[in-house]
Amino acid sequence: MTELLLGQVLSFAADPFEAGPEAARLDEALVIEAGRIAAVGAADALRRNWPQARVTDYGRDLISAGFIDAHAHYPQTAIIASWGKRLIDWLNSYTFPEEMRFADPAYAAEVAARYLDLTLANGTTSVCSYCSIHPASVDALMSEAQARGQRIWAGKTCMDRNAPEGLRDTAQSAHDDSAALLAKWHGVDRLSYVITPRFSPTSTPEQLEALGGLWAANPSCLMQTHLSEQLDEIDWVKGLYPNARDYLDTYEAHGLLGRGGLYGHAIHLEPREKARLAEVDASLIHCPTSNTFIGSGLFDMGGLKAAGHRIGLATDTGGGSSFSMLRTMAAAYEIGQLRGRALHPAELWWLATQGSARSLLADDRIGNIAPGMEADLVVIDLGSTPAIAQATTRAETIWQALFPTIMLGDDRAIRAVWIGGTPRG
Ligand code: GUN
Ligand code: ZN
Repeated sequence: MTELLLGQVLSFAADPFEAGPEAARLDEALVIEAGRIAAVGAADALRRNWPQARVTDYGRDLISAGFIDAHAHYPQTAIIASWGKRLIDWLNSYTFPEEMRFADPAYAAEVAARYLDLTLANGTTSVCSYCSIHPASVDALMSEAQARGQRIWAGKTCMDRNAPEGLRDTAQSAHDDSAALLAKWHGVDRLSYVITPRFSPTSTPEQLEALGGLWAANPSCLMQTHLSEQLDEIDWVKGLYPNARDYLDTYEAHGLLGRGGLYGHAIHLEPREKARLAEVDASLIHCPTSNTFIGSGLFDMGGLKAAGHRIGLATDTGGGSSFSMLRTMAAAYEIGQLRGRALHPAELWWLATQGSARSLLADDRIGNIAPGMEADLVVIDLGSTPAIAQATTRAETIWQALFPTIMLGDDRAIRAVWIGGTPRG
C-alpha cells in the first residue's frame, strides 16, 4: 500500500547548530512505499505522481521523524518519579530492588510492553535501552519491539560488584551472556544489540576488559555506559581505579572507548576527557530531566556542540522524570538557559530526532524525513491543549508555533505515530 500524508512536513537538510534554523525545511506532503519515504514535496505534485496512494490528511498538524530516546532503562519504568535521593542512594533504594524483579521473565515481558506503550504514546519510535542483568529481560524487550516493527537498541546490563546479591554476574558470565544475546538479536529485523557495562563502579576491571574484548570482536555493535554524572560518583570511581587518569580512562584502558560508544550524562568532564571523546568521535547522551531530578548538574550543550561532539538526547527513564521527549526538550532548554545558551526550537527538535539518530550511528536510516529513510513518524497537534492553543494563535513562524508544544506539550500533542510505514493509532 502506497501512503500519501498531508500536513506540515518538517525535515532537516543540515545540523541547525551549524547552519542555523534555516537547516529545517517545511513541505506539504510525503509518500511512503514499502515502509520507507519515497518522496517529500508539494501536495499537488505528489498526488499527481502517486494517484493510487491512500491519502491521510493531517491538516495543519506537524509531521516529523519520530522521536529517538538515546538512553533509557526500561526496567525502571515502574519506579519513575521516586522521591528524594541522589544517584548512589537512588540506585540502592529504588533501582536495584526493582531491577531484581526482572529475574521473573513474566514481569519483564509485562513491563517491556507497558514501556513501549508509554513511549509510543509520547511519539517515541526508537529507543536505546539498558535492560537488567537477566538475559530474559533482553529477550522481553527485543520480542516486544520486534512484534511492533520498531527499530530499537538494547543490551544486558553487566555488573559484577557493588550491587546486591542476585544482581551480580561475573566477568565471564557477563561476556558469555552478552555474546549469546548478541548472536540471538543483533541485526534481526530492526533490532540491534548494545554491549552494556552499567558503569565503572559496578564492574571490576576484569569485567570491563572482557566486555572491551567483546566489543572489539563485534565492532558493528554500539556500547553504552554512564560517565561523570555526579561528583560523588566521580570520587567513588577515583577510589576504585586509583591508577586511572580520570573517569573516562577507566573505560579507555579496557577497550571501551571509541566511535559507537554512548556515554550517558557526561556532565563533569575534564579537559582530557573532552578531547579524547571528540577525537574518537564518541557519542555523549544528554539526559536533562534526569540531571535536574537526581540533582546531577548542568550539561554544557553549547560548549560541547561547538567543540564538534556527537550528542544525542534522552529521557534516562526512570532517573529521568518523564517518558516524553517533548518534556525532555523543555528540560534541555531550561538547562541551556542556566548555562547561558538558549537552544533554538530547531536545535531542540533536531536533537530529539537527527541528533539522537547520529549518536546511534543510524542517521542514514532514521531521524529525518527524506527519500530512502525508514518511515518512523510522529504527527504533532500544534494546539493540543487550551494553554498551548492560545499561545500559538499569534504564531507567525513554525518555530513560534512549535515552541509552546515543546515547553507545555505532553502525550495529548501526539496525534499519530507511524512505525515503518504503518500507522499505530
Ligand atoms: N549510573 C549507573 N546506573 C545508573 C542508572 O540506572 N541511572 C542513572 N541515572 N545513572 C546511573
Ligand atoms: Zn542511565
